[in-house]
Amino acid sequence: MVGREALLTLADVSWRYEGSSYQALNHIQLQLQPGEVTGLVGLSGAGKTTLLLTMANLIPANYGGDFSGKRTAAEEIGIVFQDPETQFIGLTVEEEIAFSLEARGMDDDEIESRIEEVLELVGLDGFAERSPLELSGGEKQRVAIASALATRPKILLLDEPTSELDPKGTREVFALLKRLKQDSEMTIVVASHATEELAQFCDRMLLISEGTILYDLPTRAFFAQAGELSAHGIHVPDMILLYQWLCRTGRIRGNVADVPLSVEEMEQAYRLIALQVEVER
Ligand SMILES: Nc1ncnc2c1ncn2[C@@H]1O[C@H](COP(=O)(O)OP(=O)(O)OP(=O)(O)O)[C@@H](O)[C@H]1O
Ligand SMILES: [Mg+2]
Repeated sequence: MVGREALLTLADVSWRYEGSSYQALNHIQLQLQPGEVTGLVGLSGAGKTTLLLTMANLIPANYGGDFSGKRTAAEEIGIVFQDPETQFIGLTVEEEIAFSLEARGMDDDEIESRIEEVLELVGLDGFAERSPLELSGGEKQRVAIASALATRPKILLLDEPTSELDPKGTREVFALLKRLKQDSEMTIVVASHATEELAQFCDRMLLISEGTILYDLPTRAFFAQAGELSAHGIHVPDMILLYQWLCRTGRIRGNVADVPLSVEEMEQAYRLIALQVEVER
């Protein structure tokens, strides 16, 4: 892209875990632009976690294996793993967030003010003294996100942040991510199976299959490929399938590629139908 400096670039990156004959990433080409929010989907074992670990440089830094290609990242990266509970080491929320800051040699006053700042950001004021293990799933995820944010990363990577959550927890986490997108123009990559949420939230979508990026498209163009996505085992939101069915069966004169990404957009499409029915009478 002209005129904009990518925050992160993977150029022809391939990766094989040590002791495995399987190529977990195959010739990945990827750039993240500042403020861009990217959704990452793919079947179990497709390489989502591996790709996020590579973006964060944990692969190859902390893993054995064969790496080729080039990774460049200009800014600090925060990463939130799938199951935060197994990562918690602090006895309190405050301690949990402080660890990564202490590790960077930050002084106590700065640590304290950052803890306050990120807890407010994730909507957990007053939680500083609580045990991170005695929180709801959504709250635990938000503590994990707060910890990642405390170092003020430019890029936030999240690995299936809502896979263990009920619908309320899922909404909480995506509402928080939306706020981060709006208020701080955070560059975000989120691996998730929650395609309804991704459709509303992401600017760009990636489909990874067997370590290869099959699709890398703006969100609407991505979901317009509903048939191909379904063939790859990806859940396409019902409202998109319904919209395309209405178009294909001639019930509305919409463009099949112009799929609705939110309930509000579907509502617009319905208004269109109502209007057309009215006109045809
Ligand atoms: N530490 C490891 N050592 C060897 N192979 C691994 C390791 N971690 C993952 N793999 C393999 O790499 C491939 C990609 O795995 P990865 O965990 O990235 O998939 P995923 O898309 O995140 O799947 P899921 O949706 O189940 O989390 C799989 O074939 C997996 O078995
Ligand atoms: Mg994974």
